[in-house]
Parts: sequence; C-alpha cells; structure tokens
Amino acid sequence: MTVLENQFSEAIAFIKQTMPYKPDMALILGSGLGDFADSLHPDLSIPTTEIPGYPASTVAGHSGKLHFVQYHGKKLMIFQGRIHYYEGYTLRQCLLPVELAFQAGAASIIITNAAGGINSNFSPGDLMLTTGFNSMFLKKDLATLLSPGTPDRRNALLELRETHLFKNVKEAALSTLTDLKEGVYFYTKGPNYETPAEVRFIRGTGADAVGMSSVHEGVYAVHLGMDIAVISCISNFAAGISTTKLHHGEVTETANRVKTTFEALLKKSIELA
Ligand code: HPA
Repeated sequence: MTVLENQFSEAIAFIKQTMPYKPDMALILGSGLGDFADSLHPDLSIPTTEIPGYPASTVAGHSGKLHFVQYHGKKLMIFQGRIHYYEGYTLRQCLLPVELAFQAGAASIIITNAAGGINSNFSPGDLMLTTGFNSMFLKKDLATLLSPGTPDRRNALLELRETHLFKNVKEAALSTLTDLKEGVYFYTKGPNYETPAEVRFIRGTGADAVGMSSVHEGVYAVHLGMDIAVISCISNFAAGISTTKLHHGEVTETANRVKTTFEALLKKSIELA
C-alpha cells in the first residue's frame, strides 16, 4: 500500500476502469510540450477534470489531459500539463500523476520540464538530461510521503545516471544527433522566478539549471520502484545570467522553438526503452 492510495482511491479506481490497456511507460509533459501527445494520435484522451479528485491546472501552457497512446509497440500514459506545488496544492496532490501511473502498471516514467539555465555553457533551447536533483527545499516534505516499511530508495536519486532510462535517453540523443547537455536540476518552490542573488547562490551549489517541478515527482517515482529519466528544456537564462528580463512567455516560446528536436528525442527514447 502506498501513502497516497487511501487519499486517491476514487481517482485510482476511475483510471483502472477507464484505461484501455496497461501502460508500459508514463510521461509528464512540462511547459509548452503539451502538443507531443496529440502528435501521437491518442487512443483515449481524458480531460483531467473528469478524474475524481484531480487538481485543476491553473498555468498557461498546461492544458490538463491524460492520454493513452501506442507508439512503436509501447503503450504510453501521457500527462499533458502538470500540477505545481506553487499553485497551492499539497505535495500529495502534486504526486497524483505519478501515483496513477504506478497504479496503472507503468514501470517507468519520463518527466519533462522547462528550466532556467545556470551553467554558462547552456543557452535557451538546449535540452538537459538530469544527472541529479538538488531538493534541499523539499526534503522534509518529501520524507513524510515515503511509506513506512517500504525500501527507502531516496538515496538512489543521488545518481540518476544509473537508471535504464537515463542510458536510453543518452543513446537516443546519439542516434537523433541531439546535442543533449547533462546537469543537476535545482528545485525552487516558486511561483516567482529567482532573484539574481538567489541564482548566484544556486550556482554556488553546483547546479546547472533551476526549476519549480519534477524533483518530488522523481523522488516519489523512484520510491515506488519506477525507472525514471528527467529532461529539461532550458527555456531561458536564469535571472541575472543575462541582462534580458524573464517572463513566462519566453518559456513557452523557447519550448515551441525546440519542440521538433525534443519530440524526436522523446520518441527515440521511447523506442529504445
Ligand atoms: N527559474 C525557475 N523555473 C523556471 C525557469 C527559471 O528561470 N524557467 C523555466 N522554469
């Protein structure tokens, strides 16, 4: 029994009744990447508002649908739009997509996001495969979510390079000629972007990119024993790294610009998984 099973029993029962097949893999699509699911011609698309107890998405670029898709012999469950902690939902609510993927039977999950670039070798439009999380601002909250009595896999997350999916994504980058960067993703709670002073601090921790999602999803997925990979679209220079002022429009504009490359990388990663 997972820690979320009781709280979300209706949503879980709904998905088990409604899903056309048991998915092999799940994906969570971040800002601006929503169209990926539609391009794969889903067998079933469920507005998340129809899932009992599913939090409503409030962020532009996150449309809130769950798709069941078959691609290259793989059955996929794709969450278009995500639930952010900064929207005022509890951490448990934010983890519902991961819980549903696990309960539906998906053995692995690819988590995508948009992030601000901190590493001076990164430019907006680059894609970054996460090698590690910095979740120092989430640790206590996350600890309360891990079921007593289950193996504690939190430390496994110190090294994301060891997952099967990490290797698949790297191989996919080689075969699609994608210049895939690698680096550490630093979680901030948001909702506002960081100040330049905060970015200087974050840079000092060794982080390569900063964002407001994914870490809790990844930690929980690993805790449940799922194989994971986390890919960021570097949508902007983090505050103070360049002189341009940051706005959410830039995040979606960059995601749109690199959509074709990102989609090709995701498709190849799925094929190789
Ligand atoms: N900071 C935090 N989250 C983000 C950013 C950023 O610069 N860009 C996209 N998501």
